[in-house]
Amino acid sequence: MRKIMIAGNWKMYKNVSEAVALVEGLKERVGDTGAVEVVVAPPFTAMTAVHHALKGSGIRLSAQNLYHETEGAYTGEVSPEMVRDTGCRYVILGHSERRRIFGESNETVNRKVRSALDVGLSPILCVGESLSEREEGKTMDVVGDQLRKGLAGVADQEMARIVIAYEPIWAIGTGKTATPEQANEVHSHIRNLLSEIYDTEVAARTRILYGGSVKPANARELMGCSDIDGALVGGASLTAESFAEIVLAGTPS
Ligand code: 13P
Repeated sequence: MRKIMIAGNWKMYKNVSEAVALVEGLKERVGDTGAVEVVVAPPFTAMTAVHHALKGSGIRLSAQNLYHETEGAYTGEVSPEMVRDTGCRYVILGHSERRRIFGESNETVNRKVRSALDVGLSPILCVGESLSEREEGKTMDVVGDQLRKGLAGVADQEMARIVIAYEPIWAIGTGKTATPEQANEVHSHIRNLLSEIYDTEVAARTRILYGGSVKPANARELMGCSDIDGALVGGASLTAESFAEIVLAGTPS
């Protein structure tokens, strides 16, 4: 049985006091929902404050990125060990904004996935096609390539710590959500690929989140799909009210 995960990717929003206020609001609303795993991914600058604010709640912490090297002269970067040291369990890797704006290739993403696993972090590996790739009928190939290359060298037993997030680029921040059918089609393709790369047990166990304009109004329908195991939420994770509504929508009745 896969536990629903609702993760909020705050991107480059929230200074320290805003981040703490948001967490306080979340703790009140969804601080102890055992049925759903609730995760927040603040910017690095607010990580320590959020970690402290989350104490005593069931809400877990994620980073939005890391650099794969252990330490060294890498100005501006944050190592896997440093991320773990802030109290993070998860790290979002391969987000389309990292791929598109910061030029991360599948190989870069794979190095990050490997280095995260090596220090005990759980990667949330993002995959997803652009609008033109979808229109050209390349969705399954693009997503398949990102998945295979992103997971290169990841062993069967390590898959227990991997979460996949399908985020069609055309649905991110656009208000244009994939229909539940469109999303579920790609999710089941990903699950089939996981059983090819690993086995049916790994495929059945791995959580696959949907991301891209998830809102309180569409969350329930999306998460009602057989292969959608939660949501990676951007804009609607920035207020406690809307994020909590999405968490409630994902809570099994
Ligand atoms: P939006 O929910 O704002 O579309 O962002 C989705 C996303 O990129 C989450 O990682």
